[in-house]
Amino acid sequence: MERKWWHDKICYQIYPKSFCDGNGDGIGDLAGIISKLDYLKDLGVDILWLSPIYPSPFADQGYDISDYQNIDPKFGTLEEMDTLLKEAHAREMYVLMDLVVNHCSDEHQWFQEAIKDPYGKYGKYFYIEKADAEHLPCNWRAYFGGPVWEPLPGHPDLYYLHVFHKKQPDLNWENPELRREIYDMVSWWMKRGLDGFRLDAIINIKKALPFKDYPADRPDGLCSIHNELHEAHGVGDFLGELRDEAFAPYGAFTVGEVFNEKDEELPDFIGENGYFCSMFDFSGTVFGQTQLGWHTFTDITPEDYKDCIFATQKRVSGIGFLSNIIENHDEPRGVSRYLPAEARTPAGKKLLAMTYFLLRGLPWIYQGQELGMENLKLNSIDEVDDISSLDSFKTSIEHGLSEREALDLIEKHGRDNARTPFQWSSAKNAGFTTGTPWLHVNPNYKEINLEAEANDPSSVFNFYKKLTRLRKDPAVKDVFVYGTFTPYLPEEKDLFAYVREYEGKKIYVLANYSSTPRTVKLPEGVTEILLDNLDSAVLENGSVTLQAYQGVVVK
Ligand code: GLC
Ligand code: CA
Repeated sequence: MERKWWHDKICYQIYPKSFCDGNGDGIGDLAGIISKLDYLKDLGVDILWLSPIYPSPFADQGYDISDYQNIDPKFGTLEEMDTLLKEAHAREMYVLMDLVVNHCSDEHQWFQEAIKDPYGKYGKYFYIEKADAEHLPCNWRAYFGGPVWEPLPGHPDLYYLHVFHKKQPDLNWENPELRREIYDMVSWWMKRGLDGFRLDAIINIKKALPFKDYPADRPDGLCSIHNELHEAHGVGDFLGELRDEAFAPYGAFTVGEVFNEKDEELPDFIGENGYFCSMFDFSGTVFGQTQLGWHTFTDITPEDYKDCIFATQKRVSGIGFLSNIIENHDEPRGVSRYLPAEARTPAGKKLLAMTYFLLRGLPWIYQGQELGMENLKLNSIDEVDDISSLDSFKTSIEHGLSEREALDLIEKHGRDNARTPFQWSSAKNAGFTTGTPWLHVNPNYKEINLEAEANDPSSVFNFYKKLTRLRKDPAVKDVFVYGTFTPYLPEEKDLFAYVREYEGKKIYVLANYSSTPRTVKLPEGVTEILLDNLDSAVLENGSVTLQAYQGVVVK
């Protein structure tokens, strides 16, 4: 396999609105990010992905872009973006923006022109169909609820497609003129010094056409988008063109947000010269989900999680590099999702960190994860910002759940969990802003915050630093980057264990997800502990005894 510059990198996702507020207006911004570059460098991360910072009406927190070639004044200016790129590069760090091109905002000039002249040039940038409320072109349900069709303002006989929110009209990728605009826009950013993109909802750019109904799956008479995604063939033609026209000429690093990929597509997606450099592994994320609503979701146990990860590691082995995560801005906090309640302790959090960080693929940290930030408790639906949670609340109530039960589901699955401000210190507003934060700070900031953790050698934060240093240690780096992945003692319940091997060097990760101690047999020749979340294990007589929720990395 040809070695690429990004293979050995550690990545970090920034949700700019909630990272660090530089000017006291309660909203995180570029100045705030720039002020924390040294912090990120010291943590040991290399590649930074910024969730959208383009001008936006923020119907979906910036994932509704009204101008692709500018910065929203809430976040700063293009000049500050240039400064961020310069400052990051000076520290040998790389910056990715979010490429949100399945849809734009209804306030984007293209859509405004389409409203003026639906049959003109810009009307063809979207999916606009003749229809009426009783006869929509198809019965698909939008991701954020309701039908995917919305009347085109000023044209009672015309409807436009939006698979997400109605303020996010879908762009028509079948139109070569639209595709050219996008490639030119990507090139413009790359020439400005950007290092690449995270590709939002990229699998949605291909629709199963012509539009048609699928069997309804809820009382609303609509059907999940998954039906059409399953039948949409040919996304590869768009993705290959996007790579060749927009990414390859600049050596861009790209990571795809891809759900629903088919096994046979993997080599095209992330193989040598794939459409993307990498794509996220969402196997743990989607476990237990159904199309019927959050009230039908089931929890994930450590054994389920292990099964998910082992299966994906096997699926991609020899093909390419996945991007490994335990959370992102669309998900609950990983420690709240993957750890049993009793293990949501610093020790348990370190165990989870160790488990996923050393898998084959690129390790990603989502802001605040390195502190062990947790889900948010809610008292009322008025505290909720996330449109997806608001939609789920409605569905739950319609389904007969009480308000409290509906809130419990949001506490568990809602997107605000990951979007509360970064907890820098125990000062007011967790040191995130001197103003009023746009979203509540998690009240647990008094205990969970960077200032406290930085001073505590046994903190979750310092453990993440150990992990980044371990992955970069020249003595073992190739094993973690290029080594194979093989499950170890997979049949042992609640033991999540694997071996990474490269040119005869083997490193074992042994994680005990049980509330009782266990003794694990060690292969011959294992003599050294590289990492231990409790700093107490000893290797003797060819075995190691692990306490409840203890894990070790051994060589
Ligand atoms: C992706 C984003 C999510 C957004 C959606 C629509 O899934 O991660 O935050 O709501 O796309 O752009
Ligand atoms: Ca600000």
